[in-house]
Amino acid sequence: MNEKQLPSVVGSKSFTAVAINSAAKAGEWVKTKLGTALKLNQKVSASDLVTEIDKGSERLIRNLISTHFPQHAFLGEEGVEPGAEASSKAIASAKDAEYLWIVDPIDGTTNYIHGFPYYCISIALAHKGEVIVGVIYDPSSDELFVAEKGKGAYVHGKRLAVSQEQTLQESLIASGFPPDQSYALPLNLHAIAELAPQVRNIRAAGSAALHLAYVAAGRLTGFFEYNLNSWDLAAGSLIIQEAGGTVTDRHGQPYHLEARDVVASNGHIHQPLLQQLQSSFENYNK
Ligand code: IPD
Ligand code: CA
Ligand code: CA
Repeated sequence: MNEKQLPSVVGSKSFTAVAINSAAKAGEWVKTKLGTALKLNQKVSASDLVTEIDKGSERLIRNLISTHFPQHAFLGEEGVEPGAEASSKAIASAKDAEYLWIVDPIDGTTNYIHGFPYYCISIALAHKGEVIVGVIYDPSSDELFVAEKGKGAYVHGKRLAVSQEQTLQESLIASGFPPDQSYALPLNLHAIAELAPQVRNIRAAGSAALHLAYVAAGRLTGFFEYNLNSWDLAAGSLIIQEAGGTVTDRHGQPYHLEARDVVASNGHIHQPLLQQLQSSFENYNK
């Protein structure tokens, strides 16, 4: 078979190999900078921070990817103005590229700044709007989650599978505390408050992408959060789907690159979780 027939191979370097290499290199570098005096810059609020390390990680990833695939489009968080509007516009205008890399150079920057070991590098490749490769690397635990469309999801060679809980009452659900304090944070807090009595328990460890990887690994039953960005979701959504789970928006529409209000689960609890979130959304707006 020649290279033209292999959609995932260009110049003999596979997309997945480049994604893995980039995530691993960036993660190793980011980890060496942990605990160093970081210059913090505020984005939309005092809980939305960026450091020089986020920017350096993105530069490193962008350089590695463009060395192998100079024709591919690239969307990284640090190349976009802060705020939901700019993020939505960025993915809307980039999503039709033939090949688009979608990168969060550190997901969980607040944790990183505080030395709380729960943050990751998230790299996805979309082909004509569909994610075909997803890689999430957690430098603290040295876990690398990888999925290729149609080929399953793995962590260090071990196949990932979602959990088997069948009811909300048995479910461990994760969410987040979004930095947008006027819209997303109160909405999310309301949903958490109404969901908490319905489920076994709730976690909010501060990295949306890593929470998605944990759903794929069966460590969490589900995850939801309102107002996330494409770079928080693209890699994790494929990893969950390839592990047998379900990812939709809050209306139940299958995951797409412009989704911001995400609901992810092992599939078994998806409908009851959606219904519960829908009813709390309606209550919130009453
Ligand atoms: C944040 C994390 C956090 C989530 C926020 C995201 P960042 O990403 O994923 O868990 O609650 O909504 O913005 O800023 O650390 O890349
Ligand atoms: Ca993020
Ligand atoms: Ca980030």
